[in-house]
Amino acid sequence: MNLPALNARQRFFYRYCVRPFSSAEERKFFEGIPGIAGQLYRAERRALHDAVVRRQPAFAFEIGTFNGGGSTYFLALAFAKLGRGKLVTLEIDPALQAKAAAFYTTQLPTLRPHVEFLLGGSPELFTPFLQQAGAAEFVFLDGAENAAQSLEQYRFFEPWFRRGSVLALHDWNTEKMRLIRELLCHTPRWRETLALAEPDSIGFALFEML
Ligand SMILES: C[S@@+](CC[C@H](N)C(=O)[O-])C[C@H]1O[C@@H](n2cnc3c(N)ncnc32)[C@H](O)[C@@H]1O
Repeated sequence: MNLPALNARQRFFYRYCVRPFSSAEERKFFEGIPGIAGQLYRAERRALHDAVVRRQPAFAFEIGTFNGGGSTYFLALAFAKLGRGKLVTLEIDPALQAKAAAFYTTQLPTLRPHVEFLLGGSPELFTPFLQQAGAAEFVFLDGAENAAQSLEQYRFFEPWFRRGSVLALHDWNTEKMRLIRELLCHTPRWRETLALAEPDSIGFALFEML
């Protein structure tokens, strides 16, 4: 769950019975940031953030920026916490991409150095960053609800995965990830380190390469 997903009654309960007893950081994971919408439930945001803090990649690669207030924000926060590294996020919709980049430039100047906003629909755009890093240490796939496209994106990164690489997948139980699910079941090099389901998540999985 996250704040925008609550109905009026739940909001009332949250505001008076939960929020006053939550830390500022916990509130952020649940509420997101004013002015920019974002998806993902609190537990999913936390899982992404903590995985970056643990793995400390030079780059994280994300497909599906959307407005920039969901996964993008929490991944960027993790890099800011580390004080180094960068999220490279790809969005196919030009209006969404421009709005997200502008919001970070004007409203989130401390996070801006930790995010590269790319416009387009092909993961090929990540190539210069992968060449610079020499590996895909952290990949998060959250693009279109299209199993073949998600699998293609996974296949793009395949030659760049190394021991210790982290693969995060949203909508893990829906059509979006159907073909990747089938593939990873038969790929013993990937170890599932976290699986979230309702009510904490609409489906989220983390894998680490052995
Ligand atoms: C489910 S939303 C992502 C939500 C976002 N991760 C968040 O936490 O708020 C999916 C996004 O992927 C974008 N998208 C769809 N196909 C894409 C592609 N091939 N490459 C890049 N972005 C794509 C859509 O325009 C949409 O903004």
